[in-house]
Amino acid sequence: MKRIGVLTSGGDAPGMNAAVRAVTRAAIAKGYEVIGIKRGYNGLLHGETVNLGVRDVSNIIQRGGTVLYTARCLEFKEWEYVLKAKEKCDELDLVGIVVIGGDGSFRGAADLSKAGVPCIGLPGTIDNDISCTEYTIGYDTAMNTAMEMIDKIRDTAMSHDRCSVVEVMGRNAGWIALNVGLAVGAVGILVPEMDTNIDDIIAKMEESKKTRKQHFIIVVSEGIGHSEEIAKKIEAKTGIESRATILGHVQRGGNPTLRDRVVASEMGYYAVELLDKGIGNRVVGMQNHKIVDFDIKEALAMKKPFDENLYHVADSISF
Ligand code: ADP
Ligand code: F6P
Repeated sequence: MKRIGVLTSGGDAPGMNAAVRAVTRAAIAKGYEVIGIKRGYNGLLHGETVNLGVRDVSNIIQRGGTVLYTARCLEFKEWEYVLKAKEKCDELDLVGIVVIGGDGSFRGAADLSKAGVPCIGLPGTIDNDISCTEYTIGYDTAMNTAMEMIDKIRDTAMSHDRCSVVEVMGRNAGWIALNVGLAVGAVGILVPEMDTNIDDIIAKMEESKKTRKQHFIIVVSEGIGHSEEIAKKIEAKTGIESRATILGHVQRGGNPTLRDRVVASEMGYYAVELLDKGIGNRVVGMQNHKIVDFDIKEALAMKKPFDENLYHVADSISF
């Protein structure tokens, strides 16, 4: 019987389970057997696999994390291990693998495709930092979680007339910070893509104090970091008591939102259609709200311009 593999790799993201379910069900519906590969490329190298039947993916569409577990497998960057993985795929009789992860996972998928195992990458990361797609699985859930957390932080910032500096995830990308910053009405948003600095924000705070603004939220992207120092500098320069909060991994967990479940399901289904047509070495993405696919190497070379317009909207209506 024809067999398709599925694995999750790199940082987990809410919605990965919905993608695993979609891949499994779509493949079974087309007459395939499905092999779940545990802990990313590690599981492929070490034969950690599980047969996924229709009911094995029941009751997971709503769950965060990844039931297949995930890992960052450094060995897989070496060709020797890619060839070892190819042998494992032959032993498992796989016609192809759906790899759910970020850029690094796609590099591995391109290598494995080159070695003769057709792979399809699905963008799974909260960071939305994959250039070929306007949306990545997990992004919406992470942003909603961060927004809810900052709404709570605002209650206490307001009660104490304080400034709260909140650091959100995103690695080197400011997408989460931008959208969350706008959604929580942050007076300042610091992201690696824009050259706004803390002195600009302090000047804005001083102006806002004149119109009786008494508490402030500043969202800092992980790529900027130094939230504690930023809070201390604000307090020293403005006299406003300031606190820093790093939201951290809370943003990676929790039940996926409707958007993440829907996009993950669409992308998972689409990936199986590609493999079923004998197509590999592709990444699935979203452009203009439509599901599309690209050659992996071309996808990795693409650039995604930052939404400077949205940044200016956020900046001009929060003071
Ligand atoms: P994250 O951004 O959460 O680290 P990635 O999708 O970038 O997620 O995952 C990185 C993982 O991808 C690595 O740990 C490794 O297992 C895998 N990988 C495979 N080949 C490569 C490669 N050539 N370069 C980088 N990562 C690779
Ligand atoms: O890629 C997702 C992400 O959460 C980034 O935002 C962050 O930089 C990184 O992973 C943290 O990774 P971990 O704590 O799992 O090593």
